Amino acid sequence: MTTHTKPGLRPANPNFSSGPCAKRPGWSVEALKAAALGRSHRAKIGKTKLEQAIELTRDILQVPAGYRIGIVPASDTGAVEMALWSLLGERGVDMVAWESFGSGWVTDVVKQLKLADVRKIEAGYGELPDLTKIDFDRDVVFTWNGTTSGVRVPNGNFIPADRKGLTICDATSAAFAQRLDFEKLDVVTFSWQKVLGGEGAHGMLILSPRAVERLETYKPSWPLPKIFRLTSGGKLIEGIFKGETINTPSMLCVEDYLDALNWAKSIGGLDALIARADANAAVLDRFVGKSSWLGHLATLPATRSNTSVCLSFTDPDVSALDADGQAAFAKGLVSVLDKEGVAYDIGAYRDAPPGLRIWCGATVETSDLEALLPWLDWAFAAQKASLKAAA
Ligand SMILES: Cc1ncc(COP(=O)(O)O)c(C=O)c1O
Repeated sequence: MTTHTKPGLRPANPNFSSGPCAKRPGWSVEALKAAALGRSHRAKIGKTKLEQAIELTRDILQVPAGYRIGIVPASDTGAVEMALWSLLGERGVDMVAWESFGSGWVTDVVKQLKLADVRKIEAGYGELPDLTKIDFDRDVVFTWNGTTSGVRVPNGNFIPADRKGLTICDATSAAFAQRLDFEKLDVVTFSWQKVLGGEGAHGMLILSPRAVERLETYKPSWPLPKIFRLTSGGKLIEGIFKGETINTPSMLCVEDYLDALNWAKSIGGLDALIARADANAAVLDRFVGKSSWLGHLATLPATRSNTSVCLSFTDPDVSALDADGQAAFAKGLVSVLDKEGVAYDIGAYRDAPPGLRIWCGATVETSDLEALLPWLDWAFAAQKASLKAAA
């Protein structure tokens, strides 16, 4: 259904970006008033807040007791790269990628680390690679939820419990929205600005006992900058996993993360967060199911993300355009919605096929997504009319 009549109702919050994501419902700067500003992060007040952030993360994500959780520099990228540089090279590695971020880790390992024994297991946008090709006697690097294609692994069943290699999982747009199977994961990373709508800058690094064992028994042949170093004299630096960060964190961001975690706990923890994302994704899925112009980029329903939902054009006139034409069409549609103040940042990622990407994570209110839907039809009709007029 398309319509030229401008919808009456607007989303109360038009923030549908895939990161930084919408702040939690009811957030205001007041939430930050207890921040330990102007104080040392090593003073009791700062250290206690960092410890709380770690413990609340463990509590809400249901991280097993034997796993270490650290706050590290440089957001999710920092956490992933620390893991790649510190752990890889002991054995061969299978790099599993199906969109831009996963492909970035492949580039790191092949072109920067220049590891000799690398296998690439890849698929294009919209698909998952054949996960049965992975050899878990090797190390494995993959992204749980491919943010730029909206394709995720449905669960951790493809990973054997008795693997010999380590599994290194970039979980930044999955954590707090999808159930991560920690028993199958040796390294899990994410950043604060995604599902909980925190502030960007800091990364989380979660290590299984086997990952720690690798750190303590294997020393890479390449130099490691201080910012990546997790061991000292062959032993894990335990302090990093107790809030003694490698370098100075932002206590304002820490306070905001604590606020987000406390909100998550107050609404019912992980189950409630997952339920919110699922409900949001279901609203969009019902709309797409009925739409004459929009379809899911992710081909298989079981692999469709409940956070970064990626949509492509199915309207015959639009899908007949070449990639540049479709990108221009998408840009026009996105910019009309931006100008109206009803949806910000919903264009597909720059390396992904042209289309829309609408964040459905827990901080987005279902009522806002519902209010957005008629605007999508309205903006499409307007763009389509200009396309016809130009033809
Ligand atoms: C799957 C994935 N990996 C890595 C990143 C990069 O994260 P950051 O900017 O937190 O380093 C993103 C950001 O969107 C992502 O979605």
